[in-house]
Amino acid sequence: MGLGRLRDGLAPTPPMGWNSWNRFQTKIDERLIRETAEAMIETGMRDAGYRYVVIDDGWEAPERDGDGDLGSDPERFGSGIADLARRVHGLGMRFGIYTDAGTRTCAGYVGSLGYEFRDARRFASWGVDFVKIDWCNTSGLGTRSVYWKWSNAFRAAGRPMILSLCEWGRTRPWQWGGRVGHLWRTCWDIQDTWDSLTTVLDRQRGLAPYAGPDHWNDPDMLEVGNGGMTTTEYRAHFSLWCLLAAPLMAGNDIRTMPDDIRAILTAPEVIAVDQDPLGLQGDLVRAEGGTEVWARELADGSRAVVLFDRDAQPREVAVRWTELGWSATDRVQVRDLWERADRGSCAEGFAARVPAHGVAMLRLSRSEA
Ligand code: GLA
Repeated sequence: MGLGRLRDGLAPTPPMGWNSWNRFQTKIDERLIRETAEAMIETGMRDAGYRYVVIDDGWEAPERDGDGDLGSDPERFGSGIADLARRVHGLGMRFGIYTDAGTRTCAGYVGSLGYEFRDARRFASWGVDFVKIDWCNTSGLGTRSVYWKWSNAFRAAGRPMILSLCEWGRTRPWQWGGRVGHLWRTCWDIQDTWDSLTTVLDRQRGLAPYAGPDHWNDPDMLEVGNGGMTTTEYRAHFSLWCLLAAPLMAGNDIRTMPDDIRAILTAPEVIAVDQDPLGLQGDLVRAEGGTEVWARELADGSRAVVLFDRDAQPREVAVRWTELGWSATDRVQVRDLWERADRGSCAEGFAARVPAHGVAMLRLSRSEA
């Protein structure tokens, strides 16, 4: 497994952007997309690395046109998708869209089954840079063959487009998805609750070996800022997604986000972990009494570590150097990535008091002997 993975340079680090679904579902229109794209500049999201503005389900016209082509809803997207893509490009970002591999999308709009080459050409002609392909209404179809067809359709369309697979981890896409696309969902849809967050997180264990440049596990889009969790919980959500080398698709209302949410989504040292050029996904190192230690190796030999308290009480959480493949006597520089502060150098390990449902996120660098 793993041979023949795409290495086309389209997603050397996990894609970052915004997607309309988590906050707006199908209540979307071109004005929302335009305002969001503009807000991404004003809020510093674009400059923090969020590149792709992606319209999820609900943009489609009720039926294909006389030629069999997909079109956008004439009322809510009256200026057309090409116009929107142009505007997004004009703001220095990239543009993404959604379709479904089956007969209908998950929200009941027109699907792409049987029209893969036609739709890929259409997306390319509109200037699309990223396509999420969902898996509703596909009874009797095989994931590998259908997504393989899409991959060929993209190639035939002649425009580089990121292919985002969305079959929710049903057929172990981490084992084959890297040959046809750039990211694949590993689980069912995330919700804006603590329960959902921890359920999704638990599904990511053991998947690290399958990810790397141009082929990423996707634990689903961010809920940060959607209102169902606390700021502390959202900080944990964001930290863990970065540790997992997850695609970072913000899913909130960028136009109205408060400062604490913006500070989470644009935290430079935390994002740098997600975007580390080595592209090695992190994994769970140890779970103990409601606390967890997650770690990831970075390109410069340092380690990113998330000390995670899943419990409803604050807890002290510690990491030992021996758990990271270092020896206890090594001197290690500790950097707190949320506080953006150095914590000195230590032997053996480091412990932090972590708030309930919260994290401390560290970057650890071993001093040269
Ligand atoms: C599925 C996907 C979601 C979203 C909706 C749209 O549930 O997993 O991410 O795209 O469909 O209908």
